[in-house]
Amino acid sequence: MQNSVNIDISRRDLLASSAATLAVTSVSRKAAAQPAKTSTGRSSKLSLTVNGERHDLDADNRTTLLDALREHLHLTGTKKGCDHGQCGACTVIVDGRRINSCLTLAVMHDGDDITTIEGLGTPGHLHPMQAAFVKHDGFQCGYCTPGQICSSVAVLKEIAANIPSHVTDDLNVQVQLSQSEVRERMSGNICRCGAYSNIIDAISEVGGIKA
Ligand code: FES
Ligand code: FES
Repeated sequence: MQNSVNIDISRRDLLASSAATLAVTSVSRKAAAQPAKTSTGRSSKLSLTVNGERHDLDADNRTTLLDALREHLHLTGTKKGCDHGQCGACTVIVDGRRINSCLTLAVMHDGDDITTIEGLGTPGHLHPMQAAFVKHDGFQCGYCTPGQICSSVAVLKEIAANIPSHVTDDLNVQVQLSQSEVRERMSGNICRCGAYSNIIDAISEVGGIKA
């Protein structure tokens, strides 16, 4: 019991340390920026372009890209599910490729161009994939949905660019756009509500895939 108490305190201390040592300077979000504290001597200056807006950060080297987006840029559309690369809720698009933002450090993305769900569309001007998810009921609780949509947008571009998946058996053959190909590539995005068939319908409509 004593050990579990100590572990809880250590985790809280770590999170507090991480939050306190990452400061954000953003032209349009200065009011939300956190004060810089680099007392650990383990922070780095970096710049991220998120949804077309540049942010200069002084970040603790241990800060994940997910935490930088959510806790410091206050872009909470990107969700934290497992925080271990298992669910895909944190998927964002970095320089055109989808990644799990919980599995990568913010300092590794200095100069990168990042698109989150907030950058794909707005309530008045939905991205076609967002509109298709609404039309086909591609969600229930919606927690996995930002990651599903970011992943879906990137998947269609991956296939068009002939980028192989983990199970592509012949690298010399053009990848065919099909529902089975999309299902395989979307397998890292978990939906606890089980909206998979409707998600595939939404992606199929945007991608022009016949059932
Ligand atoms: Fe990143 Fe689950 S929160 S994969
Ligand atoms: Fe609830 Fe996917 S819609 S987890």
